[in-house]
Formats: sequence, C-alpha cells, structure tokens
Amino acid sequence: MSTIDMTTIHTTVQEITHSYAYQATELVQMLWQVQEKLSYIPTAAIDSFAEILKLPRAYVAGVAGFYSFFHDSPRGQYDIYFSDNIIEHLQGKPQLMDYLLQKLKVEIGKPRADGRVTIDNTACIGMSDQGPAMLVNGYTVTQLTQAKLDKIAELIETQTPLSHWPTEFFQVQDNIQHKHILLGEPLEEGLAIRVMLARGTDATLAEIEKSGLRGCGGAGFKTATKWAFCRNTHADERYVVCNADEGEPGTFKDRVLLQSYADLVFEGMTVCARIIGAHQGFLYLRGEYRYLLQPLEAVLAKRREQGLLGEQILGNPNFSFDIKIHLGAGAYVCGAELALIESLEGKRGVPRNRPPFPVTQGYLNKPTVVNNVETFALAARIAVYGGDGFAALGTKQSKGTKLLSISGDCLRPGIYEFPFGVSVREVLEACGAQDTQAVQISGAAGTCLSAKEFDRKIAFEDVATGGSVMIFNRQRDLLEVVRNFAHFFVHESCGFCTPCRVGTSLLKNLVEKVYTGHGTADDLKDMSHISQILKTASHCGLGQTASNHIADTLKKFPEVYRKRLLVEADFEPAFDLDSALEEARQITGRRDELAYL
Ligand SMILES: Cc1cc2nc3c(=O)[nH]c(=O)nc-3n(C[C@H](O)[C@H](O)[C@H](O)COP(=O)(O)O)c2cc1C
Ligand code: SF4
Repeated sequence: MSTIDMTTIHTTVQEITHSYAYQATELVQMLWQVQEKLSYIPTAAIDSFAEILKLPRAYVAGVAGFYSFFHDSPRGQYDIYFSDNIIEHLQGKPQLMDYLLQKLKVEIGKPRADGRVTIDNTACIGMSDQGPAMLVNGYTVTQLTQAKLDKIAELIETQTPLSHWPTEFFQVQDNIQHKHILLGEPLEEGLAIRVMLARGTDATLAEIEKSGLRGCGGAGFKTATKWAFCRNTHADERYVVCNADEGEPGTFKDRVLLQSYADLVFEGMTVCARIIGAHQGFLYLRGEYRYLLQPLEAVLAKRREQGLLGEQILGNPNFSFDIKIHLGAGAYVCGAELALIESLEGKRGVPRNRPPFPVTQGYLNKPTVVNNVETFALAARIAVYGGDGFAALGTKQSKGTKLLSISGDCLRPGIYEFPFGVSVREVLEACGAQDTQAVQISGAAGTCLSAKEFDRKIAFEDVATGGSVMIFNRQRDLLEVVRNFAHFFVHESCGFCTPCRVGTSLLKNLVEKVYTGHGTADDLKDMSHISQILKTASHCGLGQTASNHIADTLKKFPEVYRKRLLVEADFEPAFDLDSALEEARQITGRRDELAYL
C-alpha cells in the first residue's frame, strides 16, 4: 500500500469529495470512503482534502486523527479487532486473541510483514450477549471459539474474500428473551404517521406528553418537553437526530431495534419531524454496527417507495422529510449529544459547551432533537395507541417499559423488556443468574450494585439506566472489572479537558499498581480523591462518570482492593527507579546508589 502514488490519491479524493458535493459536513463519511478504497488515509489524502475543501490542513488531520477506526498507515488486508468488553474478557477473549496472534504470527496492532492481517483490540462492539466477538474489515463475527479461529486463520492464509466466508460466522442473533409493549405486536408500516396526520401534531405531542415518555439514552429528559422546546424555537430549519452510537459497554438493545425494528425507529423519527417541522433527519450509526448499514439503507429505500419518506409523505404536499445515515468511526464520546453533533458536522467529536442546548442550537446551529433509538421506537407506538396505556405502566416518575441488555454470568443473556419498577432481583431471576456478587448497571459509567442492593428498582427515581446490565458472580475478581473500565476511559477520553485527560490516566495507573500487588492504603486515598476531581471538574458526562466504577467499588467492595495491598507499606513508589537506571548503569559502569537523594 505504501506504493500508492500521489496522483491516485488525489484523484480518489477528488472523486469522493465530488460525490459528497464538496460538503465539509461530510468529512467523516469521506474519510471512510478514502480508507475503504486505499486501506488507510495517507498524508497526501489529508493534503488533497484540505486543498479541495478549502479547509486548514490541521483541521482535516485533526478529524482523521480523532477517530480510532481511521488509520494513517496501512492495515492488513484482513483488519481484525477483538472486542475488549469485560464480559467477553471474562469469557476467554484474551486467550482467544493470543491464540490467533500466535497462529497467524502477528504482533498486536502491527500488520504482518506480508500485509495480510492486523489484529488489535477495540472497545465493546455491542455483542456481549454472544461474545467473544470481533470485527473483520468492519463486519461482526460472534461466538468465537478456537475451532472458529482455526477456520478464520485458514481463510486468511488462503486469502478468501469475506464474501466467501461461511455466512453463519456473520450472523448476529437478536436474543430477545422477554417482550412487552415495544417488542410485542409488530406495527403496520406507516400506521404511526397516518394516525398522527389524522390526530394532528398538537394532539400527538399531547399524547406523548401524557405518556410520560422519558429519553432512553440514559439522562431521561422528558421527550415531549424536548420536542416542544425545539418546535417553539424560531428558525428556518430544524433537524431530527437518532442517536445510535450505543457505545456504553454491555449495551446492545439499539442494535436489536435497528436490526429487527428499524421501521418503528424511522417511523418515530418521522412523527417527530412532522411535529417539530424538520425536513432532514440523521441516524448516527456507530462504526461498530457497520454490518447494519446496508440493511438500514434498504429499509430507508423501501420507505421512500412506500411514500413514508421523501417529498410529500403519504401525499401531503407540505410534508417532506428524509433520513441520512452517518457512520461513526470508533469514538465512545460521540454518543454524548454535544459531541455527536460536532461529528455529524464532519468535525472531531469534542463535546460543545452547554448551553446552548441542541433544541435551540444543534446541528448547523439550528434547533435539533437528539433522541435515542429506543425513544423514537416508543414514540411511534405512543403516536398510534395514545399515552394512557404507556403511562399506566411503570412507576410514578418512570412510565412505560425499558429495554435491558443483559450479559455476563447468567443462563439467558439477551434483551429483556420490563416495565420500569422491576427490581434487580427480579431481573436476575428472569435471566437465570445465580450466586451473583455484583451487577453493573448502565455500563462502565454506571452504578455497581452489591447483593445488599438487589431489591432496588430500575427506575429514574432509583437505579437509572440506559439499559446495560452486566452480571458478575462470586467467582469473578471485581478488580479485573475495574481495570477493564479504567483502561476503557483512558482510551475514550477525548483529551479536551485536563481533569479527564490526566485523571483517567492517573486512575488507570493506580488501578494497575494495586492489581499487580504494589498498591498501598495511600493509593486508595488518592484514587478516591482523583475520582472526586473527575466527577466535579470534567467538561462533559464522560469525565464526570468515568470514575463511578472506582468510587462505587471502593465503597461497596473494599476487600477487593485491600486483599491486594502491600500491608506493611504506607507508600510504595509507582516508578521503579532502579530498573529504569539499570541499563544506563550497565553501559556506563556508573555506581549511583545515591540517585534517590
Ligand atoms: C459519554 C456519553 C455517551 C453517551 N452515549 C449515548 C449513546 O450511545 N446513545 C444515546 O442515546 N445516548 C447517549 N448519551 C446520552 C446523550 O447525550 C443524549 O442524552 C441522548 O442521546 C438523548 O436522547 P434521549 O433523550 O432519547 O435519551 C451519552 C452521553 C454521554 C455523556
Ligand atoms: S470530560 Fe473527557 S471526554 Fe469530556 S471533554 Fe473532557 S476530556 Fe473530553
């Protein structure tokens, strides 16, 4: 690949920028295209983008460098990423990865000398109900075993194109274990739009208000209030954005909705568009769900043919709305709406300041509704059936049902739809979990519950969640969990603000120190202190929640740390000066035992 000549690169960039009408907002999508054609993003391509789009070179290089799926040097012909989710980790991912590295004689992160293959780690790819899993050239392979890896190694050595690999390798199961109103009876395509048009936009918004629907992405903001704010903000254009970034480790409910309920999601977006007066919508699809891109494009095309999207929807002369899919490129922070909007505009996913909020100044500074996939799907059902039935389910402050993505130590991992108010204990019983030590709710950024708390309820007024439920039995070492999360946050911090950029690294180093048996009581105090700084001083939700797992486990599972401490020492240096100096001492013959003073 290093032999690609400058003319080929420039022509490729010219063609791609032309096909995107030279819109800088499409820069992330254009970079994907270059990488697809050339296998990486050469420096010369950055130069060409800057020249053609009339953007500063540093701007383009900054965008390309921000996303972890973009590369500035060639990758292997088969580019493999193992999902480094803690659940898959505990299911044997490290051993499987080592096995494949050895079998293919590859060093982690480096293309093999013949350019055939690269093997690397990536954060959770949303398959923890059917892991260990990996991405091969962006496509998901689940339920990895040694036997499957033997076959994959053979396919790679024989240079078999992905299209000739066994199709069952790429099958992703829905694993729906418990249905309620959302996953129950399918909705006739277009019904929500028809009912909304018959009922009127004001009355439909009133039904959503009556339902009590709150956002399902985690924060739980009232959906009707958000839509009303956006609608009432004076502007010549408004936008609808569906947040399908689903990067929180352990969650995969949006994957299932997009795979098997996409019409419902697009229907909800269309209802929203009509209510707020938007003509353009976006589905921000995480790069890890690339396998869903084509099927989702096909659903959009079908809906256009059915008159459910595009100009004059269902024959209404003043109702036009369409949806574009924007593919993310591996950045958890882009799930945060203020980073997501930056990314949608073709920029680095650094979260904007707030206020202003997206409902007044979002995409291109126009009023924008950003909602989670599940929120739109529920809104479509409420548009049809009205708000009363939904409001009758759940608790006082949390109406309706919630999808839970359950994985870890249980017999039946998968998707469970329960009314809000269900207790953690009931959830554990339903999925066949036994001897449970801890439940991590809402992903790495969420809450770690001990057995004493299993009667707590899943609800905004008690244990709020975006939907991830990870179960760990008593055989598990919770420090492994903490360590995995600490590494995750270092990788995912966007680096914009110091408390998060530095704090996540300091915490990871301290966790490593304790994990390797060098920690002291002072280190635990430092961990608490740094956790607090992260929580209070970080710029966005990522940093503010990045130490939750440490604060929670220090409080609820202190023995996990204490049993690893050096009991006799109050202080143990994190830096081993002697081993750092050893090589220099040997080379120079210097004796410097006083280097400590
Ligand atoms: C670091 C971070 C990651 C987030 N990831 C997601 C995500 O993957 N999906 C999502 O819907 N919301 C995510 N959110 C919440 C969004 O910022 C936003 O609140 C949500 O998309 C609004 O939709 P809702 O009201 O329907 O929940 C994330 C927030 C933060 C701080
Ligand atoms: S808190 Fe972390 S992710 Fe958020 S802006 Fe600061 S560095 Fe970036």
